[in-house]
Amino acid sequence: MNILFVASESAPFVKSGGLGEVIGSLPKQIKKKGADIRVILPKYGDIPEKFKNKMTTKTEFTIQLDWRNQYCGVQELQENGIHYYFIDNEFYFKRPGLYGYGDDGERFVYFNKAVLEAIPHLDFIPDIIHCHDWQSGLIPVCLKAQYADKPMYRNIKTIFTIHNLKYQGVFPKPLLKSLTDLDDSYFANDSLEFFDQANCMKGALIYSDVITTVSHTYAEEIQTSDCGEQLEGVIEKRKKDLYGILNGIDVKNYNPVTDPNVRVKYQNSLFNKRLNKERFQKQIGLPVNKDIPMIGMVSRLVEQKGYDLVAHVLDEILEMDIQLVILGTGEKKYELFFEDAAKRNSNKMVTIIKFDEVLARKIYSSSDMFLMPSLFEPCGIGQLLSYQYRAVPIVRETGGLKDTVKPYNQYSGEGTGFTFVNYNAHDMLFTIQRAVECYHNKEVWHSIINSIKKVNVSWDKPAREYISLYKQLVFVLN
Ligand code: GLC
Repeated sequence: MNILFVASESAPFVKSGGLGEVIGSLPKQIKKKGADIRVILPKYGDIPEKFKNKMTTKTEFTIQLDWRNQYCGVQELQENGIHYYFIDNEFYFKRPGLYGYGDDGERFVYFNKAVLEAIPHLDFIPDIIHCHDWQSGLIPVCLKAQYADKPMYRNIKTIFTIHNLKYQGVFPKPLLKSLTDLDDSYFANDSLEFFDQANCMKGALIYSDVITTVSHTYAEEIQTSDCGEQLEGVIEKRKKDLYGILNGIDVKNYNPVTDPNVRVKYQNSLFNKRLNKERFQKQIGLPVNKDIPMIGMVSRLVEQKGYDLVAHVLDEILEMDIQLVILGTGEKKYELFFEDAAKRNSNKMVTIIKFDEVLARKIYSSSDMFLMPSLFEPCGIGQLLSYQYRAVPIVRETGGLKDTVKPYNQYSGEGTGFTFVNYNAHDMLFTIQRAVECYHNKEVWHSIINSIKKVNVSWDKPAREYISLYKQLVFVLN
């Protein structure tokens, strides 16, 4: 089976969040299970030179975009056993960062067209093009509309995975119409039209053969008006083709037994873990004391991640004998608020406004608890990483958080973390207080760590689920 992943980011080249993490680790596991899987990405300026130096040019051609002809180079390299292709156009992609430009619509229409046009030049005809998030959302649309009668493309099936429904790629209709050259019928209400604009995500949801998202609960939630981001109707219509497959993580890469960023290696020894905490406390200027529970947060500082709840009861949280460490970048209002709060509470709280892999690993390995009170969460990677580093997750029961964290039950002694249901700051506060109480009860804490030990967060099961979906699509639907 030939599978082509199309995405807008991937570790180890460029990554802004969970999507890049997934695209960077899932293909290896799918390949292990016997599929020929390759990945195609934009060649961004931010890709480190050491990778760019290894790339070779596979082919060059031009594509028609509106009235212009645009250069398109396809470069390739092998990394960690995976074959990667990069769409090269310096005008569109040789800029700092990945997204957020005024011409993102044009950049990603170009990318989608370039991928489709590149296929005959790759010596690799995919059975399935597996697209991820809106930046590759027009591929299923254009494939059906413009390529269906071409022999090379005729049998290609498409899968679209929703990593986050909030970001949809909505642009003025005339712009997408002239760039894609799709006819008027594609801009009607039963197609790309969305509140008088055109929506790339909506296109993908209608035209791909199968839709997946990254947890079962999120798959249910996005069919409701609460979480459907105004596409719930479109999604509900396709529910028989919609599957929830949980994300995994690269358990070799994230492992406190071998992680070079973990000074005192450990697996289940909380004693060793606390030695790491002491070193980290010293490093970031907090009082050094292995008995004070440290609560870590690592995520983009955006509304989705629940920072409003934390801000609302921050004073009460800091009244407890705890330490709070926040790492991430995002919206200015959160960055300023939490930086300022850390200045005022410097003996209890540290805020680091950075996207920093090393510090992230230090927080996972030093924290006793990992807080993720998300407003919504398609899957969430932080809680999976926290399991690996034996930090106990405190989460809101939404999306993938609900599917991966089993609430601690004081009567049965079962559970892998602490959870609350409503998006309510005091519910979160009480849950944190409960976790802190349990932390001081050695027996309880050990039984939670024992349950965490048994959780499997590897890609093994999810990769098998993707493979069986691919097989179903290629062999059964054909
Ligand atoms: C997005 C989602 C996150 C998910 C990740 C990878 O970043 O917000 O929940 O884990 O994509 O699928």
